[in-house]
Amino acid sequence: MPVINRIAEFHPEITAWRRHLHQHPELLFETVQTAAFVAERLRAFGCDEVVTGVARNGVVGVIRGRRADSGKVIGLRADMDALPIQEQRDLPWKSTVPGVMHACGHDGHTAILLGAARYLAETRNFDGTVVLLFQPAEEGGGGGKVMVEEGVLDRWGVQEVYGLHNWPGAPEGSILTRPGPLMAGADTFDITLTGKGAHAARPHVGADPLLAAAQLVVALQQIAARNVDPLDSVVVSVTRFQAGTAYNVIPQDARLAGTVRTLKAETRALAERRLGEIAAGIAAAHGCSADVAWHPGYPVTVNHPDQTAFGARVAAEIVGAERVRTDVEPVMGAEDFSYMLQARPGAYVFLGQGDTAGVHHPEYDFNDAVIPVGASWFVRLVETAMPAG
Ligand code: NI
Repeated sequence: MPVINRIAEFHPEITAWRRHLHQHPELLFETVQTAAFVAERLRAFGCDEVVTGVARNGVVGVIRGRRADSGKVIGLRADMDALPIQEQRDLPWKSTVPGVMHACGHDGHTAILLGAARYLAETRNFDGTVVLLFQPAEEGGGGGKVMVEEGVLDRWGVQEVYGLHNWPGAPEGSILTRPGPLMAGADTFDITLTGKGAHAARPHVGADPLLAAAQLVVALQQIAARNVDPLDSVVVSVTRFQAGTAYNVIPQDARLAGTVRTLKAETRALAERRLGEIAAGIAAAHGCSADVAWHPGYPVTVNHPDQTAFGARVAAEIVGAERVRTDVEPVMGAEDFSYMLQARPGAYVFLGQGDTAGVHHPEYDFNDAVIPVGASWFVRLVETAMPAG
């Protein structure tokens, strides 16, 4: 079964929505115009409920099937926010907001879910209820977490959740996923090393925090090299190093910051513990003290086996089994759909974009050719999991 014909008929219109959203990108929780655009369309499609102001500027749409009293409820999720990047391509639908662009394709995700919503509201060829979750602030704000905390899944009794992300570099229209950890947990840290400032010509009367920090940057790599099982995954990246103001002054303190990515809760806890121990030990060896702040970020995105197998089976019906993979390697990027997958069983998949620029690149643009595949996948999940009659 290929993409749904009726959705293929909407393809130009969905593409126009996508390009409109691309022209008007909004950051984090400030998805005001995007949410208004989504809500207006959901109402026009005849959704049974359209609720705005969820997680500040998120939108929930509810579509009831032929027998909504069957008690089955599926949640479908799209993210709506853009990134603080200056777009480099001169597309006819390029961003109209300086320094802001849809560089992660969330414009495409939103348009795909709108396309699925239109079809589902028109045909209602299912029993049960579909809850459409349009969330803000995926790119660092944890909008998905806020949606869960505000009780969105409980309010409509959502039983399973599904989401997708476009994937540059994978064959156009292919669908890639895996059961278990698919994307990393992403935490950040700040470390301040405090020593004793001195004249640069008289280091022996001071305690040099810059030298300690330089050694600490190297020493933190032992978390990956010597603490975590080589068959497990961890990334420790120091991404900021700030110290000093002059050629002839040993500074009083030095500050490091960075990120730690892991695929297991145990590894995450181990990395946090070792980061603190190594910082304290290196600081002590230099007569300095270490102040370590660990900031928990998005948890590991863990796909549930049954829902992942189901999602892959539905995908194979749309694009053919040869274009579906359920054994991709996990990636060390992070995703706040992880909070929804902590709250409910479900699955997250990657939708191949073909050979486009990578996400978060200033030359990226969502590939509109895959819209019917994504929208058909969402629709068939619903129609297959909750068949009418
Ligand atoms: Ni993204």
